[in-house]
Amino acid sequence: MRAHPAGPLHGGIAPPQAAGAPPTDLGALDPKVWPRSAQRVGGELHLGGRPVTDLARTHGTPLFVLDEQDFRGRAAEFATAFEGADVHYASKAFLCGRVARWVADDGLHLDACSGNELTLALAAGFPPERIALHGNNKSVGELQLAVDAGIGHIVVDSFDEIDRLVPIAAARVEAGSAPVPVLIRATVGIEAHTHEFIATAHEDQKFGFSLATGDALAAAVRVIREPHLQLTGLHSHIGSQIFDTAGFEAAAHRVVGLLGQLRQATGEVLAELNLGGGFGIAYLPEDDPVSPQVIAERLRAVIAAECAAQGLPVPRLAIEPGRAIAGPGTVTLYEVGTIKPVRLGSSGAPGTPLVRNYVSVDGGMSDNIRTALYDASYTCVLANRESDAPPALCRVVGKHCESGDILVRDLWLPSDVQPGDLLAVAATGAYCWSMASNYNYLLKPPVVAVRDGVATEIVRRQRLSDVFALDAVLADLPDPVGADR
Ligand code: LLP
Repeated sequence: MRAHPAGPLHGGIAPPQAAGAPPTDLGALDPKVWPRSAQRVGGELHLGGRPVTDLARTHGTPLFVLDEQDFRGRAAEFATAFEGADVHYASKAFLCGRVARWVADDGLHLDACSGNELTLALAAGFPPERIALHGNNKSVGELQLAVDAGIGHIVVDSFDEIDRLVPIAAARVEAGSAPVPVLIRATVGIEAHTHEFIATAHEDQKFGFSLATGDALAAAVRVIREPHLQLTGLHSHIGSQIFDTAGFEAAAHRVVGLLGQLRQATGEVLAELNLGGGFGIAYLPEDDPVSPQVIAERLRAVIAAECAAQGLPVPRLAIEPGRAIAGPGTVTLYEVGTIKPVRLGSSGAPGTPLVRNYVSVDGGMSDNIRTALYDASYTCVLANRESDAPPALCRVVGKHCESGDILVRDLWLPSDVQPGDLLAVAATGAYCWSMASNYNYLLKPPVVAVRDGVATEIVRRQRLSDVFALDAVLADLPDPVGADR
């Protein structure tokens, strides 16, 4: 029989036990999961010194609330742990003008993975020499932009890209500039223990030059022989949301091996090694991420040992954390709209039905696709008040026309949660706003940065007129108001 195209999860209904036992305090804010400034004041969740009811009233819901000190604190912790190395913030996790400026002001580098991320960073005043451009299919226009701006590195991903880049670099060098600095992205054959769609260094996927087939060495040799390109180092990225440093250590071992092969083949000793991002964060209290300090110590140790074994000088290290900087400091606030109890069977106790409450909120898979796409786990709390009502088994769902529109699959919430309450979903700073869509013509939520009792809207709510502006028939409608505002 043919498998259903939706894959093995099709029709799979998680058993109610997936929620685990109810926690003793349903309103608790585990510091591993919640932004550093999160606290309850008189029962209400405060973020950056602001009560959530006030934020929701002023900015509406759904709303991304970003704790500025959490974001910048985590960036600083990576910078300190990796002193002497370059920390590139992987901006695909979440980027806007304000964030680009924080990252620039705090001295970090920036990883852009499209021409438009690069354009945004440059427009915000990010120093080009601290930017690297990624992508498995960079267009001529994107490469031209990167070369014209004089960015720090282009991370070359394919032989076709080398063909495309060479004439652009040649024109630039002929006009008097230095050769264009590039890294070669090597695929090191590590199976990172993460979701298949976000693992990137196994062989059977689209990124980079395979180490095993010799393509990585061939690409490096080719670039070294191109007078208009300057191969400054190698790059490897093994995947995302990885907890175990063993994969990074194995990757480091293999790319240093490639540095050795390259010296043997060409006599060149490359000065830089970028090990990518992918450091995991806690979405649930039971998740156990490794600190930047420990990651740094382990990577340095492996690289030092490998380089010593190969008789190579230790290269300058770079890393590209995205989620680990942006993820934990942001929560999404939603307003509860409807609650539908569904009887699942009996709880075991005679006559006691087991019920799951479908708690529908005013956003959904358009502002957080991760649960639907990766089966990601989140947690959330009742945010506008405390409650000592007994726990009820819940599933937090959005308002999209799709039953897979789930935000938090299985959790316990106080049984008195009602329409009009606010829910806060934790750790939504990475890959939620940046992957948001207008599915069902829902509008992208705003992002508000909070700090020391001050809230600043750093990205405004999308308006219906922003979306209609693309429509041949509706573009000229005078300011459509829509149902939301
Ligand atoms: N460097 C490279 C070359 C990457 O491809 C990525 C992520 C990163 C750094 C940053 O990875 P991070 O430290 O944020 O894990 N949308 C998915 C994640 C896709 C990651 C793509 N590349 C998710 O929501 O989990």
